[in-house]
Amino acid sequence: MQNHIVVLTGAGISAESGLSTFRDNGGLWEEHSVYDVATPEAFARNQELVLRFYNDRRRQLESAQSNQAHRLLAELESRYRVTVVTQNVDDLHERGGSSNVIHLHGELTKARSSRHPELVYDIGYRDIRQGDTCERGAQLRPHIVWFGEEVPMLDRAAEVVRSADQLLIVGTSLQVYPAAGLVYEVDREIPITVVDPGEPASVSRARFICKGACEGVADWVAGLP
Ligand code: APR
Repeated sequence: MQNHIVVLTGAGISAESGLSTFRDNGGLWEEHSVYDVATPEAFARNQELVLRFYNDRRRQLESAQSNQAHRLLAELESRYRVTVVTQNVDDLHERGGSSNVIHLHGELTKARSSRHPELVYDIGYRDIRQGDTCERGAQLRPHIVWFGEEVPMLDRAAEVVRSADQLLIVGTSLQVYPAAGLVYEVDREIPITVVDPGEPASVSRARFICKGACEGVADWVAGLP
């Protein structure tokens, strides 16, 4: 049975592609209040502001490129079973070549019906505008898990993490639950490595590579059997 590598990623892996993180200096949550742009109440209160926040991020994503960290993780698929569990809503893991990606917090390149959540549409990097509706006439919204909403992929992600033979954590502050709680799903004997140039995540028994994603993932890959 092939060695199963599970990689839990956050905004830090895409920082080296030029996309803002959330909680670093100059991060997205310094410029916007979560409560104005990333909750269902915000969407009900000011649809135009919320749609513009995600339209801006979608346009930025279109001109971004996947980086070496994304690509190295994809290349591992030729030697290992690899599953990426990401909190990121960008498509850079897929554009870097990864084929098993679980998006815990949704995807920028998809829209869904604000009234019929089973209706999800690929929109690429196009804007969602007020008046854009699903096939049943309800306003479209970003296919993003907002604060206070369920995380539909959580059980699937926990099952994947429990089957890991190695866990690599790249570029997440592990401050947002339930995603951060996935770290506690691995058995005690499973090695955990954290790649992060900042304050390492609160994973006491992990090995830390205190470098940026590109350099840190390259170091970690070099050490694999
Ligand atoms: N390489 C690797 N890690 C980096 C880099 C880099 N070049 N630059 C910053 N980091 C690290 C930071 O040190 C921090 O630990 O990336 C992490 C970014 O943390 P956050 O900004 O909190 O992003 P994230 O953990 O992904 O946030 C989780 O919060 O707002 C919600 O839904 C949103 O998915 C997001 C969730």
